Formats: sequence, structure tokens, C-alpha cells
Amino acid sequence: MSAALRAQLLLCLVSLLSGTGLTRYIEDNEASDGLYSLISLAQKRESEDFIFRRPLRCLDMLATEGYFTFVASRPQLACAAFIIAEPSEVISLELSDVSIDCSAGDFIKIFDGWVLKGEKFPSSYDHPLLPHERYTDYCSSAASTVSSRSSQNVAMIFFRIHSPESSFTIAVKKVHNPFPCNIMSQSPEGSFTMVMPHQRRNCSFSIIYPVEIRVTDLSLGDAKSNEISLLRQIWPGCSGSGDYVELLGGNGVDTSKMFPVADLCFSLSGLAQMKIGCDNSVVRLVSSGNYINRVTFQYRLLDQNEIPKTRENTLENFCSVE
Ligand SMILES: *[C@@H]1O[C@H](CO)[C@@H](O)[C@H](O)[C@H]1NC(C)=O
Repeated sequence: MSAALRAQLLLCLVSLLSGTGLTRYIEDNEASDGLYSLISLAQKRESEDFIFRRPLRCLDMLATEGYFTFVASRPQLACAAFIIAEPSEVISLELSDVSIDCSAGDFIKIFDGWVLKGEKFPSSYDHPLLPHERYTDYCSSAASTVSSRSSQNVAMIFFRIHSPESSFTIAVKKVHNPFPCNIMSQSPEGSFTMVMPHQRRNCSFSIIYPVEIRVTDLSLGDAKSNEISLLRQIWPGCSGSGDYVELLGGNGVDTSKMFPVADLCFSLSGLAQMKIGCDNSVVRLVSSGNYINRVTFQYRLLDQNEIPKTRENTLENFCSVE
């Protein structure tokens, strides 16, 4: 991910975070970012065995492998680092050189996914682990090194440190994932093919931008003809037909709390195209495990003037963005 994109995604997260205590730290963190990461990226390209190292900030976004060291400059009580990899990767994290005081209320917790405004991605319904199993807590762990591997391309670390000079290092490694299920897109433009081979599992591809999504190919096990059903109020939806794809829009990251924009439950070789003017747009593939399902889609960022303000076709717009 380019430095500019990383900055854009972080900005986007910060706007999603607004209202939480985290945002007030952003001023401290913005300063030296752009140039530094450009230089570091360049260095990384020049030398293959270059080990990427940099300080970790109280509010941070990590998209490269490497070692990130946090040193508290004062009590820092609400810190979080968002980690993101490519769609076909999961993230392996390892804590080392930890010098914090758990008994004083310090903590470092790794989370399998992202939490924004109290909402989790992937949603608790779509994650293989129970909510409490998704946290790895340094302070309640007996081992001196704590490690964790994410189930999807995003993970995060929460930490709270009271005394200055306390510190820790987090090692980030990316591991190939041949069957990615839940995915957070790194950018507002792109395309993706989601495949679910005979597994009873629901997978979401989440884009935290208002986007236009074009489904260019859809193949579901029991598909018969071409049809798109809009909104469940008009049509009961595809939930009776087994496997389907739903497009969701909403302003949080928990897909179970988002609004259905459209359901697609028939194979499609033409085009289904939808503008979703929400902070978060999701393509969710619901699979019964009886079939091999595949959906291919493209997405691009909506211009400000494209964001639907009122009714568009028969679609009521629920994410009104001024
Ligand atoms: C997938 O989602 C559907 C509809 O949201 C739900 O009925 C089904 O139980 C889910 N399957 C799994 C394995 O969670």
C-alpha cells in the first residue's frame, strides 16, 4: 500500500473513530509520517534482507511486515494500532521486549479483527472464534512472548501504558491464505473474486468508503436464471433460496448491523451495479456448504456529487451523506 493510501485509510479510520478517546492523540502522531514511510518503503525495496523497523505510534496503521517499537513518552491510556495485509494474507503478530506494569493497569491486547466504535469486523456471526477468544491478552498470559495469528487480513493491538519509558515491540509478519473469507479492502478501488468451496460459511468483503460496486460474475450452486431482487421489503430476499450474495451498506463495520441494499441469488453473467453512499460497503457471500460459490466484483470510490441523496430507482437511500 502506498504511503498516500495508508494515510487516506488511517484518516478514514480516524473519522470512524471520532467520538472515542483515540482521536485526541492523532495530532501527536501525524507530523513526521509521510516522508518517513516513503523513505522506509524505498529502503525496503532496495535490499531484500532489510528488516523494516520503526517506532509505533499511539494511533497507528501498519501495512508492512517489520518490527514496531512503542516507547511511552507519558501516560498513554487509549492506544490502538490497526494492522492490514493483502486480501489473500493473514497476519502473524508476536510481542517481544515487553516492559509494562500489568499490576498498575497497563495492558497490551491483540484482537483478531478490527474494532471501530464498538463494532467488530468480522462480525461475531461470521468469525470462527467466540468473541472472547479473539483477544490475546499479554497480561493474562503466562508466556514471556505472546503471539497470535489472525483469521483474516486485519488485526489490531490495543494498549494502555501508564509510566513513561515503558515499552514493547510488535513483530508483524504476513502469511499466505489460500481461501480468504472475510476481507477488509486496503483501497477504495479494485476488484476481487471470492470463492467458497463447499463450506458452510459466510464471508464479507468490506470497503470502508462510499463506492460503486459492479458484480461482474456470480456463480452459485443452484442457480437457474438471471434476476436481481432489490430490497427485502419488496421481495422477501434470497434467504429462502439457500446460497446468495448480499450487498450491504452502513456506517459501522459490523456486517450484522448493516442494511441490505440488494440480494443476488441467481447466476449472473451480465452486470449488477450499485452505488452505496455509506461509510462502509460490503459484499457478503452466504454459503450453505452444498455448492461451490464464486462472486467477482469491481469497486470504485464515489465522487462527492455521486453520493445518492434521495431515492435512486426504487432504492431508498439510508446512508444520507451531506
Ligand atoms: C450465514 O448467514 C445466514 C443469513 O445471514 C444465516 O442464516 C446462516 O446461519 C449463516 N451461516 C453461518 C455458518 O453462520
